[in-house]
Amino acid sequence: VLGESHDQFGRKIEYLRISVTDRCNFRCQYCMPLEGLPWLPKTEILRYEEIADVVRQLAPMGLRRLRITGGEPTIRPQLATLVRMLRDIPGIEDIALSTNGVKLPTMAAELADAGLDRVNISADSLRPDRVVKIARRDLHFDLVASAKAAQDAGLGPIKINVVVMRGINDDEIADFAALTRENPWHVRFIELMPVGELRELTFDHVVPTDEVLARIRAVDALQPDSGPARGNGPAVYYRYPDAAGTVGVITPMTHTYCERCNRVRLTADGRLRTCLFGDHEVLLRDAIRSGTPLAPLFLQALAEKPKAHELLQMRVGGLRALSQVGG
Ligand code: GTP
Ligand code: 5AD
Ligand code: SF4
Repeated sequence: VLGESHDQFGRKIEYLRISVTDRCNFRCQYCMPLEGLPWLPKTEILRYEEIADVVRQLAPMGLRRLRITGGEPTIRPQLATLVRMLRDIPGIEDIALSTNGVKLPTMAAELADAGLDRVNISADSLRPDRVVKIARRDLHFDLVASAKAAQDAGLGPIKINVVVMRGINDDEIADFAALTRENPWHVRFIELMPVGELRELTFDHVVPTDEVLARIRAVDALQPDSGPARGNGPAVYYRYPDAAGTVGVITPMTHTYCERCNRVRLTADGRLRTCLFGDHEVLLRDAIRSGTPLAPLFLQALAEKPKAHELLQMRVGGLRALSQVGG
């Protein structure tokens, strides 16, 4: 019998974001320093069998939806093996992947075959020179080719995550939105969150979502859309008249959606984090490795899940980068 779990604020928790690595093949300005971060030692990283064990134990407690994240998840060897293990766990309805898309042209078919349902691709520019400038690695990433590869493999609906940065890529908002006219893609504009390396970029680069929407509306009317794009996350969607896809917004800075939060995170080193920000985490790794049941630790983590994140109050650094906590 499959149960349900709620936290102390009555939020139903059914979505686990699984970080499989803290490493990445990009060095996005807002995420990591050029030299990288102090990577987790291999011995501390959960093996695929251990991740599957966590999901197997939490599924009967109401876990229904999984998302594989990083760092960049596709750089961990044999990712399809993990997808296959997760696919076989009773109760799991949706398995998604958040990726920078670089490897999708070569990996999409294999991942789909292993049972992956869909992908979200991060892309902050459509201009090759600018992709290299933001990501600080020249890996010939081409969003359109990557999204098409994923779509052809059946990994739709395709969502595209654009982190909007003033003076860096905010002149491409209309170009990104225009992609949704012909393609059944869901382009989501994310407000920059001042964490990780952002102490340099700071709050000055945040573009409030109202401004993003105004720029998209300056091109053509937008209608609210509650259609098939709605996933498990906090995005709100709109559509241009007769467009194939939608435009979405994710507003961690100007509106909190924490009251609807349905998720927890598993870090690559086996900690259960109940909020993207702050230090609310319970170490599961030792319990997994010693065969101790995880249910009491899961309930303890839920009891400590905060009501809302504190990012807006924390104007100074000290927060871990998203690559370290699984986006
Ligand atoms: P869908 O089910 O496809 O909607 O996925 P999602 O939006 O949950 O996943 P994705 O990895 O694409 O997340 C998009 C972005 O939303 C993340 O990179 C974060 O910027 C933001 N986000 C996701 N979860 C949280 C959260 O718990 N808190 C905050 N503040 N932001 C979040
Ligand atoms: N602010 C907003 N979004 C971020 N991401 C990574 N770091 C930040 C940040 N500081 C995004 C990535 C990707 C998603 C998983 O998280 O670009 O779209
Ligand atoms: Fe890598 Fe994603 Fe961080 Fe960019 S935002 S460096 S793609 S983990």
